[in-house]
Amino acid sequence: MKRIAIMGASGHCKVIAEIALDNGYDDIVFVDLNPTIDMLGEYPVADEDTDLDNFLRDGYDFIVGIGDAKIRRKVQEKLLSKGANIVTLIHPNATIAYDAHIGLGSVVMAGAVVNPGTKIGDGCIINTCASVDHDNTIGDYVHVSVGAHTAGTVAIGDNSWIGIGAVISNNLSVCSDVTIGAGAVVVKNIIKPGTYIGVPAKNI
Ligand SMILES: CC(C)(COP(=O)(O)OP(=O)(O)OC[C@H]1O[C@@H](n2cnc3c(N)ncnc32)[C@H](O)[C@@H]1OP(=O)(O)O)[C@@H](O)C(=O)NCCC(=O)NCCS
Repeated sequence: MKRIAIMGASGHCKVIAEIALDNGYDDIVFVDLNPTIDMLGEYPVADEDTDLDNFLRDGYDFIVGIGDAKIRRKVQEKLLSKGANIVTLIHPNATIAYDAHIGLGSVVMAGAVVNPGTKIGDGCIINTCASVDHDNTIGDYVHVSVGAHTAGTVAIGDNSWIGIGAVISNNLSVCSDVTIGAGAVVVKNIIKPGTYIGVPAKNI
C-alpha cells in the first residue's frame, strides 16, 4: 500500500490528492492545523498537533499543499527536521524534459510543461497548464500559477508567485519575494521584491 499525507486541507490539496492517486497512492490523508472538517472530498482530515507523529511513525510519504510560499517552506522544513520522506509529485499528463530537474516536494500539475535544461527548486508548484521553457532556473517555493508561461532562459527567485495567465519574456530575471499579478506581462528584469501588475508589468 502506498500512503501519503498531504499537509493542508484546501482546494489546492484536493488537486494534489488527485495527482497522488494517479501516482499509485491508495491511502491519502490531509493533515491540517486545528481542522474544522473531518473529511475533504473522500479523504479524512487529521489534526497536525495530535496525528502528525503517527503518520511519520507509520512511514507515510509527505507533500505540502499550502499555497503561501513562506508557510509552505516552514512546514516542509519542519517535516524534514522530523525525518519525513517528502516526495515530488508529477501528474502523468505533465511533460517534463529528460534533463529537467524538479526539486524535493515540488508538484507539477496536469498539462504543465517543463522544457530542457530547466531546474525547478524545492517546494515549487508548477500549476495546471503552466509552462516553464528551456534553460530556466526556478528557485525554491516558487508558484507558477495556472496557465502562466515563462519563455527561455528565465530565472525566478525563491518564494515568488507568478499569477494566473502571466507571461515572463525571454532572458529575464525575477528576484525573490515577487508577486506577478494575474495576466501581467513581464518585459524587464525585476530586481526589487514587491507586486507587479499589468502589461507591461509595473510595481504597485
Ligand atoms: C496582483 C494581486 C496579488 C493584487 O492583489 P491585492 O494586493 O489584493 O490588490 P487589489 O485587489 O486590492 O487591487 C489593487 C488595484 O490593482 C488592480 N489589480 C489587481 N490585480 C490586477 C491584475 N492582475 N492586473 C491588473 N490590475 C490589477 C485592482 O483593480 C486595483 O485597482 P484600483 O486600485 O484601481 O481599484 C492580485 O490581484 C492578483 O493578480 N493575484 C493573482 C491571483 C492568481 O494568480 N491566483 C492563481 C491561482 S492558481
